[in-house]
Amino acid sequence: MTAGIDDISIYIPRLYVDANDFAEARGLDPAKLQKGLGVSKMAIVDTNQDPACLAANACLSVMQNNKLSPEDIGRLYVSTESSFDESKAMNSYVIGMLEQVYGQGAFEHCGGVETKFACVSGSYALYDNLNWIRAGEAEGKAALVVVSDIAKYDLGSSGEMTQGAGAVTMLLNDHPRLLTFDPRVTATSIRDEYDFYRPFGKETPIVHGQYSNLLYMIQVRKALEIYKDKAVSTGLIKLEPGETILDHMDYINMHLPYSAMGKKALAYLVRHEWRQLPRWKKIIQEIGMEEPVPKDPRGTIESVLRDHEFMTKDHEFTKLFTQTPEYQEVYEAKLSSSLIASKMIGNLYTASLYLGFRSSLEFEYQKGIDLEGKRVGFGAYGSGSSAMVFSGVIQPEYKEVVKSMNLEEELGSRRKLTLNEYETIHENKLGLEESILKTKHEFILVNVNTSIESRGERRYVFTK
Ligand code: COA
Repeated sequence: MTAGIDDISIYIPRLYVDANDFAEARGLDPAKLQKGLGVSKMAIVDTNQDPACLAANACLSVMQNNKLSPEDIGRLYVSTESSFDESKAMNSYVIGMLEQVYGQGAFEHCGGVETKFACVSGSYALYDNLNWIRAGEAEGKAALVVVSDIAKYDLGSSGEMTQGAGAVTMLLNDHPRLLTFDPRVTATSIRDEYDFYRPFGKETPIVHGQYSNLLYMIQVRKALEIYKDKAVSTGLIKLEPGETILDHMDYINMHLPYSAMGKKALAYLVRHEWRQLPRWKKIIQEIGMEEPVPKDPRGTIESVLRDHEFMTKDHEFTKLFTQTPEYQEVYEAKLSSSLIASKMIGNLYTASLYLGFRSSLEFEYQKGIDLEGKRVGFGAYGSGSSAMVFSGVIQPEYKEVVKSMNLEEELGSRRKLTLNEYETIHENKLGLEESILKTKHEFILVNVNTSIESRGERRYVFTK
């Protein structure tokens, strides 16, 4: 049985910090954000928004756009790394909010959990729900997989320039208009790591940024190797001599903690794939330098990062590689459109990969390209750490959905925060009722109980 994504909706908070204002306030060159990281705006949540509100708003929009009723939905999963409760799952809050619109008990038949594994958990939730559909358990119902996060780092930390917030809801069913996933090729890699983590009670993560960048690329590459074996052994893809598996992906969507990370990760994957092929000789000639190798090629990530001579040469090599016409062609054709939304919104942790997918659909369609039958590869990564690589094929009915995608319109009129306003919100100095914006037809948080017997209970309303 086939299964895939029928529609996607997003909810992005309307407040943002401008990258140039941010750079000026932190004494940074704005080009580091705009060009180096590919960040131009970072979405920030208002005082009365939490990741559950973002998730519920994105769910409501996919249900309304598709005229779905609660009976049409069999599962509702929320994947997040911005959880605020150690026990009560975020999807229960989302159901509570949706029932304010659809009536109490309207989702009682619906199952689901909150999933956690840093930024990769949404991809595991997607996979599990696709298999629920493929197994025939769905009985004609659809699944909603919501990825929702607030990427918040300490003031003054190097992660602070890669913040953002938002939610993406994916409507999954057995007759998807957008994308059908390729069966039996999903590949995973996993390993116990401390590149990025958020201990209990801490609002912001502890991050080893450069370590996490390198680990992300290594882990995704491992998953890609497994994907390749599966794709070949299942007969999904036949590799001719001189070809790489990436030649068989028309589009590649990567996890995007900031948009430039997509370019960096794609360059890493392409470089490792091409190295084995005859075409590499020409690339090396164009670059004009040999590919550097670390002093200890079998060393750890730490030893590679400590090898400054190698790191400097490798950085130079990567820059030259990404400037070759061969890489530029791959980048422009397969990845570039997926980065546009990330630049405008920032980091969405679990939702970044899927915002990128949506961005790619909208902006490739706008180029007038016929997307039917194109294979899309996904490279997911979650710190801690695990990677997933999988793929799907764009369906003939995709236009019905993609033609009405309009990111600018959906973002609506956004309100730029001054650095002072941003820092006040960041440090939680304002109460829920002191929100910057007054919204209509959206779920907002109105109370968090502080009494001993009901501490932490949250109340939400749908604004009129
Ligand atoms: N003009 C143009 N580009 C500039 C620049 C300038 N003035 N100054 C720096 N840059 C470039 C750098 O060359 C680098 O690009 P490259 O990676 O292609 O070489 C990029 O901007 C970032 O600079 P860098 O010095 O690496 O930044 P940093 O170490 O201060 O912080 C992160 C970058 C990603 C490590 C940091 O933001 C972070 O910790 N983020 C959170 C963790 C994360 O997102 N991890 C990703 C994997 S999940």
